[in-house]
Amino acid sequence: MNIILLGPPGAGKGTQAALIEDKFGMVQLSTGDILRAAVKEGSEVGKMAQDIMSSGKLFPDELMAQILGEHIDKLDADVGIIFDGFPRTQNQASLLDILLSERNRTLDHVIEIAVDEDALVDRITGRYTCGNCNEGYHDRHKLPKVEGVCDICGNREFKRRPDDNEETVRTRMEEYRGKTAPILPIYEERSIVSRVDGMAAIDDVSNAIADLLT
Ligand code: AP5
Repeated sequence: MNIILLGPPGAGKGTQAALIEDKFGMVQLSTGDILRAAVKEGSEVGKMAQDIMSSGKLFPDELMAQILGEHIDKLDADVGIIFDGFPRTQNQASLLDILLSERNRTLDHVIEIAVDEDALVDRITGRYTCGNCNEGYHDRHKLPKVEGVCDICGNREFKRRPDDNEETVRTRMEEYRGKTAPILPIYEERSIVSRVDGMAAIDDVSNAIADLLT
């Protein structure tokens, strides 16, 4: 099974992808995470991605698809993939069809995480992660059980994404509205789109997705 999680910045794609990995043994491929790793490495791709990501604009389609293909090829052929953050344009949707068909994979579900955009700025500007194990937290919605200490690994250092400021978030949302939301009809025509209420509690969203996948 291969699925796409679609939704604006802060909809909960990364949060839900991690839960689907646990429940279904699938693997998350997040193009945002892939680009952030490249920035950290300081590679040529990373240098290019750094400016684009901090502006909230999109990385070039063809190169993004090529990098994603390389990541797909590192996985076992029979492991299911959760695409998180790809495709983001009509061109990327066509490129994903090619990537999948070249690898004898099919696309089984597109899950749209529907959210109230006003809540997203609060969600994004409040989020942070453990600097060691990457567990996600939020200033108001998900605090560590012991203040300042990661629940998972006990680390005391946390980090915030440089593109999680209000101005960049507004540009990311415009990019979503203008370029990503318009790809939904492509998948609606194939009758593979389902919607879940992304404003529900994290566990409830997760249960709704699990119901769709079983
Ligand atoms: P990317 O990393 O993909 O960011 P994004 O799409 O903007 O999505 P986010 O990671 O911000 O949000 P999310 O939906 O995963 O929400 P999360 O689960 O973290 O992309 C970053 C940049 O990389 C792009 O701007 C672009 O420049 C570039 N890029 C990436 N892919 C690209 C591509 N294909 N082509 C071109 N460029 C590309 O949740 C957010 C917060 O809310 C968390 O704190 C979480 O705990 C909380 N939360 C989640 N669900 C709930 C809930 N139900 N209730 C309450 N709180 C919740």
